[in-house]
Amino acid sequence: MQIIRNIKGLRDYLHQYRSRRIAFVPTMGNLHAGHVSLIRAARQSAEMVVVSVFVNPTQFTAGEDFERYPRTLQADSKLIEELTDILFVPTVSEIYPNGANESTKVIVSGLSDILCGTFRPGHFGGVTSVVTRLFNAVQPTIAIFGKKDFQQLLIIKQMAKDLLMPIEIIGLETCREQDGLAMSSRNGYLKPDERSIAPHLYKNLLEIKEAILNGEKNYPVLKEKAMNALNKIGFTTDYISIRDRKDLSVPTTKTPIEELIILGAAWLGSARLIDNLEVASQ
Ligand code: PAJ
Repeated sequence: MQIIRNIKGLRDYLHQYRSRRIAFVPTMGNLHAGHVSLIRAARQSAEMVVVSVFVNPTQFTAGEDFERYPRTLQADSKLIEELTDILFVPTVSEIYPNGANESTKVIVSGLSDILCGTFRPGHFGGVTSVVTRLFNAVQPTIAIFGKKDFQQLLIIKQMAKDLLMPIEIIGLETCREQDGLAMSSRNGYLKPDERSIAPHLYKNLLEIKEAILNGEKNYPVLKEKAMNALNKIGFTTDYISIRDRKDLSVPTTKTPIEELIILGAAWLGSARLIDNLEVASQ
């Protein structure tokens, strides 16, 4: 595995591989088994695997955890060295030569303004702006993302389609801890007592799924009940929402249940946890 820190070095290196399949996994580092599952899939589908680690300042809104976001490059590089050809670790000025706030933005309107976008205004614009730059730097054949960030995945698919990017976007299943908690770099913010409560976010999504499979169609009541249950045990819930998984629109009672996805975001102490569950999932 080669660690490359600038775009020129990356382009020079990749030049000789342009006729081969290049798979790309963008990350913000502090890598865990969820990230590794994406990199393993990349390894299986391409001859050249590029992983980026870049804590992107433009996707953190004011007052969020940009400064304290865990930066663990040494451990990250050890974890993935057997699976990865290039670890791309650019600086902020490499990605935003004109400064992070002054540069051209890429915004997928609509999808970026709902659910997490309501609670983190500007967040998804930061994601699409950085992913466009990373895509242009790497020019991969395929790019692999996690369904853990389901809204992000849909937004990136939409962006690639709208901007005619010749990149196949793949979404893979969420990796969980044994107790169901979705793996996340932000789980490290949880204190021990919060960590023991954290799996209840997923448990509530499972309960909603069960209820829907048993014929319950009153989605507003289901989500209200789950939010109350979570808030009672110590969460501060941003939202629980049942949506159409194609486009995250609000379903009607006529929407086939296998098209539904249940999404949630909730604070526990200083960690904002997100999770989701497709009703059609196993
Ligand atoms: P990050 O949170 O580091 O996640 C990188 C990729 O790993 C994303 O595609 C995310 O969905 C996936 N991932 C995270 N946790 C996962 C889990 N438990 N199981 C499976 N996949 C998981 O998402 C970002 O970084 C950034 O927004 C980024 C796309 C890199 C742009 O800055």
